[in-house]
Amino acid sequence: MCGIVGVIGRSPAAPLLLDALKRLEYRGYDSAGVATVDYDGALHRSRAAGKLRNLELRVEATPLAGGTGVGHTRWATHGAPTEANAHPHKAGGVVVVHNGIIENFRALRQKVEAAGGVMASDTDTETVAHLLDQRLSAGASIEDAMIEVVGQLEGAFALAIAFEGHAGVLAAARRGSPLAVGTGEDIVMIGSDALALSPFCDNIIYLDEGDIAILRAGTVAVFDASGAAVERQEQPIPVQVSLAEKGNYRHFMLKEIHEQTDVIAHNLGHYLDMAGGTVRGRSVPVDFANFDRLTMSACGTAYYACLAARYWFEAVAGLAVDLDVASELRYRHRPASARELALFVSQSGETADTLASMRAAKEGGQTVAAVVNVTTSTMAREADMMLPTLAGMEVGVASTKAFTCQLTTLAVMAIKAGLDRGTLSTERAVELVEALAQLPGAVADALNLEDAVARVAHDVSDAQTALFVGRGASYALAMEGALKLKEISYIHAEGYAAGELKHGPIALVDEDVPVIVVMPSDELFGKTVSNMQEVAARGGRIIAIIDEAGTAEVGDEVAASIVMPRADDFIAPIVYAIPLQLLAYHAAVLKGTDVDQPRNLAKSVTVE
Ligand code: AGP
Repeated sequence: MCGIVGVIGRSPAAPLLLDALKRLEYRGYDSAGVATVDYDGALHRSRAAGKLRNLELRVEATPLAGGTGVGHTRWATHGAPTEANAHPHKAGGVVVVHNGIIENFRALRQKVEAAGGVMASDTDTETVAHLLDQRLSAGASIEDAMIEVVGQLEGAFALAIAFEGHAGVLAAARRGSPLAVGTGEDIVMIGSDALALSPFCDNIIYLDEGDIAILRAGTVAVFDASGAAVERQEQPIPVQVSLAEKGNYRHFMLKEIHEQTDVIAHNLGHYLDMAGGTVRGRSVPVDFANFDRLTMSACGTAYYACLAARYWFEAVAGLAVDLDVASELRYRHRPASARELALFVSQSGETADTLASMRAAKEGGQTVAAVVNVTTSTMAREADMMLPTLAGMEVGVASTKAFTCQLTTLAVMAIKAGLDRGTLSTERAVELVEALAQLPGAVADALNLEDAVARVAHDVSDAQTALFVGRGASYALAMEGALKLKEISYIHAEGYAAGELKHGPIALVDEDVPVIVVMPSDELFGKTVSNMQEVAARGGRIIAIIDEAGTAEVGDEVAASIVMPRADDFIAPIVYAIPLQLLAYHAAVLKGTDVDQPRNLAKSVTVE
């Protein structure tokens, strides 16, 4: 995750940009940069590797002139955290700052070079600067160039752009990553979130998915992806904006569901070298060549992340996995060996049962690794090796973004395990890394289905009980979907392996019981269709979470479908978490429960 900011109307612009970047450092801080446009239209740029303080010293030593500019604090995804890879990236008369992952950057890079462009960095971002410069040099207006170039980008991104010869003009675009416009007396800004804008602006405009904005002193013009001018609501900016701010969302849970594109990109940037198609060796401090087995343990949603990851570790790394909820594992008299890695997963890093199980494994001589979101937590400090999920602060009691970041981290670990153990070819590893690089875009596409999911929630919210089923990693997602629904809507829900229904649970099925079937078009799809038909034959109300290819295979026995974008089998379990989270959320809103603080629950269960 990176932080981006832009301003028109403060001279000099650089000190304000640096102040705003300080408020965005939580989003990433391995390098930073600013660029300004002075009153003659000349461009000035300063960048530095390392902490923001390094850039501040540079700018103090060599001030930048101009009242218009853009700034960036980086968490590297493409290219090492060097000055050459630091934003803003420049091509001709265009400077660009970017947050997100542009998936088709290789093809765009070839297009830029075929047109004579010369790349100066390893980043995906620089391709945008070149494409814009090529269009502007051909005579296109800034508006037209933005609409044309943004239309060529695939993946998730938030962009802010300044132009040589255009003092007082900025352009911006967002898809999947957050971006907002700030307005005030004689100032217009663009920023990753309200935190960066609140000290300087009076009002805020949250840009929608696909929006393009052209900012000029005193005016903000917004266009949708088709280029049609649109109006976006301007509202007072919260005076005291803190990190834990709901922003434009009704609940923290919904905000955190929608942050997943961004935080997953941040997580991937930490663990993967996208350009090289590899896992950053130092990011996963486990040498799996030292282990023959893996024990995974956690509680609740974190446990279901382990349940999904079992399929990856076994299929990708050939590593046998033992799995148990922490409250059971800690009291089993389970023999363990030093060649068995004990892996624990926890958002809070303070859950009593998980912490106790981790301590027991350590006392028993096992090597202990912890995948945690709160990196200052007890588990983070006591584990032999800690892997952060980097989901950012999660306020909603129902875990969402932490869950998908747990899955992403575990998926990367499975790739590393396969490479360390020699059970995964380099070629296949590159394919899996490329599949993970598609995640932010796939999650953004899944989030765009929210209205369809909200409609289906009406079919669930009046039920007394609901069943969730799936096979393979989708079984784990079915368990998680059932937990999400029951913990925030209080509707009784059970998750089952789809193949288990006929061994008893199918007795529950009648026309009043919604059966949510998690069924991506993977190798188990056909078997899941058979289980679905067993339910249909007994009058069950089937809600299929399915992709286009799958819909062609199932008949009218499906009462409702949530049709997902096609996702690589490897990342489908992560992408299919999104409709399950949204289904539970909207059902709970219909029930009128306290979504962010459901009854009887706590965000971190620090007692047995
Ligand atoms: C998740 O929605 C639940 N609130 C709960 O199951 C949670 O996942 C569980 O308590 C584990 O918490 P942890 O990840 O902080 O260890």
